[in-house]
Amino acid sequence: MRQLSVVGSGYVGLVTGTCFADMGNSVTLVDIDERKIDMLQAGQLPIYEPGLAEMVQRNTDAGRMRFTTSYADGLADAEFVFVCVGTPSGVDGEADLQYVRAAAQTIAKTMRQPLIVINKSTVPVGTGDWTAEIISSNQPQPVDFAVVSCPEFLREGSAIADFMHPDRTVLGSSDASAAERVAELYAPLEAPVVITDIRTAEMIKYASNAFLATRISFINEISIICERLGADVTEVARGMGYDKRIGPHFLQAGIGFGGSCFPKDVKALANMAQTHGMHPQLLNAVMEINAFQRRQITLKARELLDGSVSGKTVSMLGLAFKQNTDDTRESPSLTVARSLLNQGAIVKAYDPVAMANASRDVPGITMCDSPYSAAAESDALLVLTPWNEFKQLDMRRVLKSMRRPIIIDGRNMYSPDELKEIGFVYRGVGRGYNGEGRLANGDD
Ligand code: UDX
Repeated sequence: MRQLSVVGSGYVGLVTGTCFADMGNSVTLVDIDERKIDMLQAGQLPIYEPGLAEMVQRNTDAGRMRFTTSYADGLADAEFVFVCVGTPSGVDGEADLQYVRAAAQTIAKTMRQPLIVINKSTVPVGTGDWTAEIISSNQPQPVDFAVVSCPEFLREGSAIADFMHPDRTVLGSSDASAAERVAELYAPLEAPVVITDIRTAEMIKYASNAFLATRISFINEISIICERLGADVTEVARGMGYDKRIGPHFLQAGIGFGGSCFPKDVKALANMAQTHGMHPQLLNAVMEINAFQRRQITLKARELLDGSVSGKTVSMLGLAFKQNTDDTRESPSLTVARSLLNQGAIVKAYDPVAMANASRDVPGITMCDSPYSAAAESDALLVLTPWNEFKQLDMRRVLKSMRRPIIIDGRNMYSPDELKEIGFVYRGVGRGYNGEGRLANGDD
C-alpha cells in the first residue's frame, strides 16, 4: 500500500484516484472546489462515469479513499501526488496553464517530505520542466522532489476499463529512479511501460490524440467522397480495418469528434507548432474537416426540409459528445442545435444523461423525457449520439408520430434499407449507395 494524493476531482483525477485506491493504495483526493468535495463526502459524484460511483463507495467504505479541500491534509503522508487539473484552451488554442501553475505553487508551499509530482494533465511540451522550476522557486525550504509526466489515455464512458487495462503506461522524467518508482505503482496493471524523457512523454500524449483525431477526419473526408461517388463508408472502413497495418479502430465516420480532449489537443499542438514557426498543415486540415462534418448535418436537414428549417420542428437524439457520458463539452450535437436554432427551427431533444448539461449550454432546446416524445410531431429526426438505447427503437412507432418521415442518421446506426422499407426518407453519413442513391446525388 502506498500513500497517494490526487489533485483535481474531474474525470482524470477521480478515475485515477479511485482505481489506485481499488488496487489497495491509500488515496486522498484534493480539490479546492468545496462543492465537489462536499458532494464526494456525501457519496455523490460530480460527473457521470459508468461504474465509478460504486467503486468510489467501495473504497471510501474500506477507508482507502478520502476527500479534502486542504492541500496540507492531502499531502500530509503522501509519497506521490498526481496533478489532474484542467488545461482549458486559451484564446489562440494554446493550453491555459493557470490551474497547473496554481497546483504546483501550492504543492511547493505545502510539501514537508520528499515527493514525486506526477503530471497527468495534458500540457504543452516543456511544462514538466517549467513545473519543476515553479516548485523549486516556491518552496519555503528545499525538500527533495521529482517531476514525472504520466499522460492519461482514458476515454470517457470506459475510463475504468481503460485505466485497469491500459495499452501502455508512458512515464517521462529526468530522474530515472522517480520514473521507476511510478512504474512500480502501475506494475499490477501488467502493461508495457515506456520510460523516456519528460518532453517526449508530453509529446506522446499530443501525438496519440492528434493521430486518432486524424483517423476520424480522414474517414470523415472519405465519407464525403463516398456520398458523392455512391459508395458506403461503413463498408469501406470495414474493408480497410482488416488490414493489420490500418486496424479497425477510430474509423467510424459521423458528425465529427468532440469532447474535452481531441478538439483541444489538436488545437494546442497546432498552436505549439505555429508559435515555433512551423505550419501544421495536416493538423489544420483535421480541424477544418471536423468543423465541416458538423455543418453537414444541418445542411442535410435544410435540404430535406425544402431549403429551410425555419419554423420546422427538428428533434435530436443524443446531446453528449459520445455515448456513456453526460459530457457536452465540444459536443457536435450542440453545434448542430445552435445552428438550427439560429436558423429559426424549433429544436426538441432527448439524451439519457446529458440533458442537464446541454440545457445549461444551449438553453433554447426543448428537452423531452424519451426518444419517442422527442420524435413526436417533428419534421425531421437527427440521431447524433450513438447511445445503445437508440439502437432498438420501435421505428414504426417513431415514424407514425412524426409530421414528416425524415431521419438523418449522424452515426450510421441504422440499416438504410430497413428504414426506407418502412417509409423513412433516410440520410446517413457517407452512405452514398445505401443511403442516398447515386442518382439522388445527381452524379450518374
Ligand atoms: C479521448 C482519447 O481516446 C483518450 O485516450 C484521451 O486521453 C482523452 O480523449 P474521449 O474524448 O473520452 O477520449 O473519447 P473518444 O472515445 O476517444 O472519442 C472522441 C470523439 O471522437 C467522440 O466525439 C467520438 O464520438 C468521436 N469518434 C470516435 C468518432 O467520430 N469516430 C470514431 O471512430 C471514434
